[in-house]
Amino acid sequence: MSNCNKLGIGLAGFGTVGSGVWNTLEKNGELISERTGKGVSLGITKILVRDPGKTRATTSAVPTEILTTDWRALVNDPAVDIVVELIGGTTDAFEIVAAALLAKKPVVTGNKALLAERGIELFAISRKMETPIFFEAAIAGGIPIVKTVQDSFIGNQIHSFTGIINGTSNYILEQMTLRGIDYATALQEAQELGYAEADPALDVNGWDAAHKAILLATLAYGFPIDPKHVHVSGIEQVRPTDIQFAKSLGYVIKLLAVVREHESGSIELRIQPSFISQKHILASVNGVFNAVSVNSDAAGESLFYGRGAGQGPTASSVVADLVEAARDLAHTARHRGFLPYRETGNLVPIEETTTAYYVRFDVTDRPGVVAEIATVLAKHRIGISGTHSPIDPSNPDAEFVDMVFLLHSCPFGKLAEALAEIESLDCVNSTPVVFRIENLG
Ligand code: NAP
Ligand code: HSE
Repeated sequence: MSNCNKLGIGLAGFGTVGSGVWNTLEKNGELISERTGKGVSLGITKILVRDPGKTRATTSAVPTEILTTDWRALVNDPAVDIVVELIGGTTDAFEIVAAALLAKKPVVTGNKALLAERGIELFAISRKMETPIFFEAAIAGGIPIVKTVQDSFIGNQIHSFTGIINGTSNYILEQMTLRGIDYATALQEAQELGYAEADPALDVNGWDAAHKAILLATLAYGFPIDPKHVHVSGIEQVRPTDIQFAKSLGYVIKLLAVVREHESGSIELRIQPSFISQKHILASVNGVFNAVSVNSDAAGESLFYGRGAGQGPTASSVVADLVEAARDLAHTARHRGFLPYRETGNLVPIEETTTAYYVRFDVTDRPGVVAEIATVLAKHRIGISGTHSPIDPSNPDAEFVDMVFLLHSCPFGKLAEALAEIESLDCVNSTPVVFRIENLG
């Protein structure tokens, strides 16, 4: 360590979040130092970027000599005590985090993709080197949900998490609903606001939320989860017609993450656009806001709400971890960031998960279509609670129309079998779109 009270930070990545960390330390550095008691001061001594010539949106000038394009120069700099990884992705970021841990430098990261995809390797290095990885910013932006699960709820068995944990998709759904703007325009706004991932496909295809849900489940249940076994669908298929139809029935559509422990001990983990009642508290979580409802044995139901993405909220979580890392360096009792305590565990196969459903079919508009679909559903013993064919006012005589079915609860596997059969009917023109209808109580 360069100096016990003055700790050097190597900041890998100086985009939305990285510059937010700079700004927060500039603004509140003194306060942080006072609050840490013994006056720990955190100073950014090296910054990794791709393009050192880029104009940076910081509240104070950044000395050009601390910029580098060589991550090794950052990790190996003796003036760097703690490495903050905010470049994103799973390749260079992996190299940086692994090298920092091997050099016994604590790591702070907001990179959920990295930890969900390659966390097993990194946490093993972390344990071996007795050097922690902190990752509060990786789940739900400014909401302190990692500390809650790791520390505040350490005496609880966690039964479930239900949450809205992707700000970009929640922003897009809200803007499509409120302003009636199209999906592409809403996504572009989310990117301009600094909410989206460098690859925004991860936001809209559900994988960013899945990475976060995998981390939450790993923290709560203590075993590594292979992303390959997680059922994920995103909001790309949500159309204005679905939003309107949900509204007329008293629902809103949210990209919902569900993590639930079954009595068998297996874990249900899925991410999908879902109809939830307009009256449920999660229905009013809008825009970039996230919320995570945690159900645990001792604390009961708890709800955590806040900004799930964006510069300030995410920097807030990174800075909190920096202080934790600084305290950790100053004391010998090591906190390893995450300690897997079970070697294995099972995920519930998606076919066995049960909810009600909203299914939209693209059908040829001719008499008998409803009956043909209903016959297949009846054969598979799936109950129908309603059907509807919203008319497109701009094209009332269309040959192809949307036909919506609301279906009773059944295992997803049973629905999938019925839908495979329905898709082969002449009157059905494309793969049906399925959203869950969640009964959240
Ligand atoms: P960003 O705005 O795209 O910034 C990425 C930064 O990393 C840029 O400064 C870029 O350099 C640098 N960079 C990227 N690849 C690099 C490489 N191979 N070598 C050197 N530098 C590289 O991303 P961000 O939104 O700040 O997100 C950073 C991380 O935080 C991601 O893991 C993301 O998932 C996570 N996160 C983001 C948010 C959010 O609201 N944005 C919230 C929570 C977590 P240049 O500037 O020179 O291009
Ligand atoms: N792209 C992410 C989101 C950033 O929109 O939620 C926060 O993890």
